[in-house]
Amino acid sequence: MESKVKDKESLLARLLGAGGEPLSGQALADEAGVSRTAVWKWIKELEEEGYTIRPVRKKGYVLEGVPDIVSPELLRSHLGDDRFVSRILHFPTVESTMPIAHKEAQEEAPHGTVVIADEQTSGKGRLARPWDSAAGKGIWMSVILKPDIPPHRAPQFTLIAAVAVSNAIREEAGVEALIKWPNDLLIGNRKVTGILTELQADPDRVQAIIIGIGINVNQEPGDFPEELKDIATSVRIHAGREISRARLAASVLRHLGRLSDLYLTEGFSEIRRMWEERAVTIGRRVKAVMVRETVYGTAIGITDDGVLEVRLDDGQIRGIYSADIELQN
Ligand code: BTN
Repeated sequence: MESKVKDKESLLARLLGAGGEPLSGQALADEAGVSRTAVWKWIKELEEEGYTIRPVRKKGYVLEGVPDIVSPELLRSHLGDDRFVSRILHFPTVESTMPIAHKEAQEEAPHGTVVIADEQTSGKGRLARPWDSAAGKGIWMSVILKPDIPPHRAPQFTLIAAVAVSNAIREEAGVEALIKWPNDLLIGNRKVTGILTELQADPDRVQAIIIGIGINVNQEPGDFPEELKDIATSVRIHAGREISRARLAASVLRHLGRLSDLYLTEGFSEIRRMWEERAVTIGRRVKAVMVRETVYGTAIGITDDGVLEVRLDDGQIRGIYSADIELQN
């Protein structure tokens, strides 16, 4: 059931849902209980935000073009009736969505809250590395989850998020992104996505899991800074066309919600199967660089806790909890 037009946002939702058919200005004004001039003003404001809206004589307004922004209205329109996302906080530019999400989580933000930005000026990656988050080129978002689980199970959500992003990239761009344990998605051996999972927890219970997801979406090869140009890639480079960030972000969120529910109701085994199906790491010879040591061996699988199992060269099986993995040959 379509919600009633009452302001600019609901008018946009209606235009997006009209599938290119004209909507009568008079009917919209009557529905909203405002004048036709008020409706016309909302239309002008939407045009200033980048929407292309054509007036058709005697018929009304037709939405002909949508800007590539990740506004809550666009995300909602692509999410349809999916119920996972409870709140969307959108910022044109922030230092990083992570501290904002942490603060929101402490202040009782509900499960399924999304903090998303068009640009991060100080995006952060794992191990306090910087994360390049150019304006309008990618999806930079943090999702707050509040599952009732013990803290040691939280790393499994990194794997859930990796499967969700891989599914979404396949769905929206027709491109296969494979997972390199624990949190990188690669297309053709270059990194397209990084996932940073952080935790707020009591000793025996998770308060909130903050999943930071950075997806390189519309960069062209020349857009990456020197230090990334040989190791990073974008969805667009492989899809051969520009990708709607709002559609892709909505698809990630839909998959994330479904996979989290599946995990919470059925346990980890199905997620693990999906993860292993998309993993480049399993069966490969790897170099695992940890804080205090580096080991070599063959990755043989992940445990139920999301730990990578590696058969070392001396035959011993070693569980790796946190490391940088380099794929050898
Ligand atoms: C990594 O591969 O090192 C993880 C990168 C995570 C980047 C995302 S972008 C959205 C969120 N905000 C941040 O500052 N970082 C994460």
